[in-house]
Amino acid sequence: MNFVDENIMNYCLEHSSEQGEILNEIERQTYLKQINPRMLSGHLQGNFLKLIVTILNPKKVLEIGTFTGYSAVCIASALNEDSEFHTIEIDEELENTIITNFINAKVEKKVKLHIGNALQLISEIHNNINFDLIFIDADKENYPEYFNLLKNKINKGGILITDNVLWSGKVLDQNQIKNDIHTKAINDFNLMLKNDYSFETVILPIRDGISLSVKK
Ligand SMILES: C[S@@+](CC[C@H](N)C(=O)[O-])C[C@H]1O[C@@H](n2cnc3c(N)ncnc32)[C@H](O)[C@@H]1O
Repeated sequence: MNFVDENIMNYCLEHSSEQGEILNEIERQTYLKQINPRMLSGHLQGNFLKLIVTILNPKKVLEIGTFTGYSAVCIASALNEDSEFHTIEIDEELENTIITNFINAKVEKKVKLHIGNALQLISEIHNNINFDLIFIDADKENYPEYFNLLKNKINKGGILITDNVLWSGKVLDQNQIKNDIHTKAINDFNLMLKNDYSFETVILPIRDGISLSVKK
C-alpha cells in the first residue's frame, strides 16, 4: 500500500536518480517469475537504501530477507570493497535467482548469501561481529525477536532500517492488533523501538512504512 498520493509518488520517481538497467531487469524478472513480486523493495526504496549506504559507509552490514536480491544489489552496489555484507533468505528455491542477479550486477564478491532461517543464522553470523547497518525485511511475526537478537549488535552511530512497519495501515486498527499476529508483531516492534532510548527512531510513510533508527 502507498500512503502517498499516486501522482506525487510518480513525480518523486521521475525526479529521483534512475535505478539503472540491472535493477530494472531484476524487477522485470521478479514480476514475471515470482508469485508475490510486490515484496521487492522497488525504485524509491532502493534509491533510499543506496543513499543511506553512501552516507554511512558501513563496514559491516546485515540484511534479513533477500527475496530475489533487489535490495541486496542496491546496498552492495553502494558499499566499498572492504565492507562485509551478509544477507539471509529462508527460501532455498530463490538461491539460484539471487546468485544470478548478484553476478549480473557484479556484486557477487561483495555479498555473502546465507540460505536458511534468519532466527537461527543470525547468531552464527554475528558471533564476533557488530553491524553498522541492518535492514530487516522478512517475516513480520518475528520482528520483535529480530530486534531482541540484534539491538545490542549495532554499533554506536549504526542504523537499523525496517520495512513494512505500517503494514498497509493495519497498525491503526485495534482489532487487527488484537487478532492478526503480523499486525500485532509489527505494532509491538514499533513500540519497542520508540521506547528504547538507545535508539533515535523515525517512521517514514514511504511505501508500506520504513523505520529508520540510529543507535545512540
Ligand atoms: C519482503 S521479501 C524481501 C524483499 C527484499 N529485501 C527486496 O527488497 O527485494 C521477504 C523475504 O524474507 C524471506 N523470509 C521470510 N522469513 C524468513 C526467515 N525467517 N529467515 C530468512 N528469510 C526469511 C522470504 O522468503 C522473502 O523472500
